[in-house]
Amino acid sequence: MIERKPLIAGNWKMNMNVNDSTELINIIANGIVDYDRVDVLVAPPFTLIPHVKQLIGNSRILLGAQNMHSEISGAYTGEISGPMIKESGCSHVILGHSERRSLFKETSYEINLKVSVAVKLGIIPILCVGESLDQREAGQTFEALKDQLDVSLKNLRDMKNPDISTIIAYEPVWAIGTGKTAAPEQAEEVHQFIRKWIEKNFDSVTARQVRILYGGSVKPGNVSELMSKPDIDGVLVGGASLKGDTFVQIIRYS
Ligand code: 13P
Repeated sequence: MIERKPLIAGNWKMNMNVNDSTELINIIANGIVDYDRVDVLVAPPFTLIPHVKQLIGNSRILLGAQNMHSEISGAYTGEISGPMIKESGCSHVILGHSERRSLFKETSYEINLKVSVAVKLGIIPILCVGESLDQREAGQTFEALKDQLDVSLKNLRDMKNPDISTIIAYEPVWAIGTGKTAAPEQAEEVHQFIRKWIEKNFDSVTARQVRILYGGSVKPGNVSELMSKPDIDGVLVGGASLKGDTFVQIIRYS
């Protein structure tokens, strides 16, 4: 039986500063000293990564970036590359977040390039997928997700021995920052769909190993029920990851 250790990840988005992040990391680090049932990750904005890396020290908190460019280096003013985030201490990178897709017009094609570069560099991608409200209401949830997975993971599928540590985060766009959480059954249904997709496109062992996170208005009050579902292997938290006590409550959900 393959065990999938839950991952509780905080996406800080464009929030926090040196002082607030110092306090937040200290609270998280203290909150997990006696608790190792889950992996814990924070994804600060780029400028805070070196500071947070230092604060994390020997604690078990993992560090991720919120994005990266698909090229290794070059004339891309304002961009940050995979080797740069790796050198700053990131083991993970969030790719294809719906805010990147909708506000910055990132396509699954570009995300596919980023995913394969991250994997080649040994950075674990947290690939975000999710349907819009229109797509859900039109009954196109699974179609939309299939499209995003087909294209975003195309290069990974074509690789001979793909790294299966890649993590997938299901974040229904209509649940992000809106206070509306997908019902645990609704989320579980999609997670099962994603796991079947992995089985079909990779293999059954990979499907059983890959962690699939849920994201969208996760809070202390709904995390336990979401996590009780067999195919929900963790959560990707936005707003509620910015307050130490709240995030620790989410981490210690069980
Ligand atoms: P909220 O938890 O604020 O809804 O954000 C979810 C999210 O986008 C995490 O990546």
